[in-house]
Amino acid sequence: MPKQDPQIQRKVEHLFLAEKFFTDESFANFDKIRLLHDALPELRLNDIDLTTDFLGTKVALPIYFNAITGGSRQSDRFNTELAQLAQKLNIPVSSGSMGVYFRLPEETKASFTTLRSNNPKGFVIANVSAKANAQQSQQAVNLIKANALQIHLNALQELAMPEGDQEFMWLDNIKDIVKNVSVPVIVKEVGFGISQINLRQLYQAGVRYVDISGFGGTNFAQIESARNHDLDLSYLDQLSLSTVESLLESRPYQNKMTILASGGIRTPMDVIKALRLGASSVGMSGLVLHHLQKSSLSETETFFEKFIQQLQLIMAAIGAKNINDIKKAPIVLDESLVNYIKQRNLK
Ligand code: FNR
Repeated sequence: MPKQDPQIQRKVEHLFLAEKFFTDESFANFDKIRLLHDALPELRLNDIDLTTDFLGTKVALPIYFNAITGGSRQSDRFNTELAQLAQKLNIPVSSGSMGVYFRLPEETKASFTTLRSNNPKGFVIANVSAKANAQQSQQAVNLIKANALQIHLNALQELAMPEGDQEFMWLDNIKDIVKNVSVPVIVKEVGFGISQINLRQLYQAGVRYVDISGFGGTNFAQIESARNHDLDLSYLDQLSLSTVESLLESRPYQNKMTILASGGIRTPMDVIKALRLGASSVGMSGLVLHHLQKSSLSETETFFEKFIQQLQLIMAAIGAKNINDIKKAPIVLDESLVNYIKQRNLK
């Protein structure tokens, strides 16, 4: 058997290790927020409207499948099922990083194009690293006729990889991509969160869509340490911001930018709390990966149908007829979050 390309091999290991370390528990801090119910909801469960505006397109739900994979043979099957599920649910779906396609177009093409061919009318998102140039970014968009492009920021992950990048001169490049690519550009983290200062830098660079992708679920410090048997760099995750902390950081930018949230989403309650904290939609990678790995496509679909019913149920309990109403629900933060807001001088 020919030796696998190291970049492709790495993607196979990521899929395997993300599932190996998956737990039902989330560390995203949603448990530190209380949401108060409405004893007089004045609505009918049937009237609840989950439709959501996602970057100007109407989709069925306030959730999306965030970047996971592509490039390997294993990812071919996975992305096919992911696309089918996204089509059934009518929610956006993202590709994993498409960088490998620039080097090995013929070997890796099908694992990406399956996202579009199995979901011809859906909202599909291309994904590149912050060092891809504008031309490559457009090439990634064209390959899957993407409706949007994600640029991932993964400095901590690269630092935890022995073969990782050592240069992180990204801002000018991001500016260039935003200016020259034909679709809206989302800048996202990969599970370590984004601070207010970084949001300001991104805003000044022309970015209008950010997925704060905070700490609490898939943990690349842990995954890369497991891949590297010589050195444990998992302590790097202590430098991260949780999804909830990152959403609190994003407050002053929520009327200037579209803030998306991901990282450690496990339950419908996590989704509702993320929306309450200002996210316009909520992404998940680890959770859908876990279900598609351990069960069939139709069982995963059943899992998400129940998930959706519970979103409706929580909305009824807080008196929210639609996604915008969720933003009005009263919340109480625990002391550690109040302390975080105080020390970070957040409004
Ligand atoms: C990812 N993630 C990711 N993100 C990205 O922008 N490009 C990528 O190629 C990948 N690759 C990838 C592989 C695997 C196996 C997983 C599980 C995740 C990160 C992902 O989009 C998300 O930001 C984080 O995983 C946090 O969300 P969850 O997993 O906690 O829901």
